[in-house]
Amino acid sequence: MDKEMTVSELLVKMTEYSQGNLHDIGHFMKVYAYARTIAKCEGVSPFEQKVIEAAAVLHDIACPLCREKYGNTNGRYQELEGIALTEQFLKDSGLPGEMIRRIVWLVGHHHTLNPVDGIDHRILLEADYLVNAEESNYSAANIQNAKAKLFQTRTGTALLQSVYGCVKEDSDSSFKDYNERKN
Ligand SMILES: [Fe+2]
Repeated sequence: MDKEMTVSELLVKMTEYSQGNLHDIGHFMKVYAYARTIAKCEGVSPFEQKVIEAAAVLHDIACPLCREKYGNTNGRYQELEGIALTEQFLKDSGLPGEMIRRIVWLVGHHHTLNPVDGIDHRILLEADYLVNAEESNYSAANIQNAKAKLFQTRTGTALLQSVYGCVKEDSDSSFKDYNERKN
């Protein structure tokens, strides 16, 4: 492809790839919206902005395969399988090689919290958490822990506070193991 695909074009292609799975489509749409918003407000470079948005759209690309192959969407399997799937997905995208490599790396590390390598990785983790907290009904204790340990950008922290700030404390649970997350 001569022309570089836009993020919107990647999003349309990812929607087709999801074959009508409304949960998967809704999930990456929400993660994309948060990631784009955080990145814009944090003033990242145009390169980083596109990398972050594309990674947000593609981050759970391995979920369908993992459900079929392993019977679950364990984070480590997702990271492992996501690398080859993302390379394949972006092969004819026209995106620069350096950009593809970084998107692939992010998909391969979207369940890795330690270390967090760069603002793009940080923003993807924050955006995914914002959505998973809602979809998996995380406890107040879990959210407080994430606020202390995961969230570092000003915008991501403000969003977490706005969306979940009023949740009541409860006695439940520790920070959820990212490898046990569904998405
Ligand atoms: Fe996700």
